[in-house]
Amino acid sequence: MPSPKRYHPLLVVLHWLSALLVLFMLAAGMLSLKWMDNEPAKFAPLAVHMLTGIAILVLTAVRLVTRLLSRKPAPASSGSRLLDFTAGAVHVLLYAGLFGMGISGLGLAALSGILPLLGGAAVDLPITFFDYAPRYGHGYLATALALLAGLHIAAALYHQFIRKDGLIGRMGFGRK
Ligand code: HEM
Ligand code: HEM
Repeated sequence: MPSPKRYHPLLVVLHWLSALLVLFMLAAGMLSLKWMDNEPAKFAPLAVHMLTGIAILVLTAVRLVTRLLSRKPAPASSGSRLLDFTAGAVHVLLYAGLFGMGISGLGLAALSGILPLLGGAAVDLPITFFDYAPRYGHGYLATALALLAGLHIAAALYHQFIRKDGLIGRMGFGRK
């Protein structure tokens, strides 16, 4: 049977939903959350951040299972074996980065005692989250994930507009 032209529709939905949420979380975390004083005004932004982060973790797990169980299009070619290998490696690292962010975030929230914010309860915020080791992992991974996502988006645009091979359509709906 020839490979399908596009990814499974569930993967397509999960890809674009996650992309939107992840880019929002990276921007909000780096530009706003980390600069806020740890006082009650931060309760709501932290709760939204944790809830969205947990949602991304669940979506990524569903996505990985769907990815492993569904048939995917044959690897796209960029004309360079090195770049083709890099594309596959970046996809694996993006999945790893998403799991790493979710797990380090959950670890940080559990250790610092802020999980009750999810149920609307008040908590004592630490003076700084850097008192907890997972805060370092979460910060470094965020930088790595942002760089990987930038590379990935640049590559998608290169395929679409310079090689004009319709790559983005593979992550879209239409006839198999
Ligand atoms: C894919 C999922 C996630 C992304 C992309 C993300 C992104 C970020 C970013 C960019 C920062 C700022 C880091 C920095 O620049 O140093 C941050 C901080 C933080 N995140 Fe996440 N996060 C995710 C999941 C989670 C989860 C699941 C939790 C907890 C349940 C969480 C809790 C926190 C906390 C407590 C901080 C520290 C805020 C501070 O230092 O004031 N994150 N996150
Ligand atoms: C505007 C932003 C984005 C565009 C245009 C885009 C485009 C694409 C395209 C066209 C593919 C299919 C590549 C192929 O057929 O070989 C793909 C796959 C993928 N994208 Fe994105 N993407 C974007 C954002 C993101 C973000 C933010 C993430 C995660 C942080 C992400 C994670 C992935 C992963 C893991 C795959 C591999 C799919 C799989 O094999 O399961 N993408 N993306």
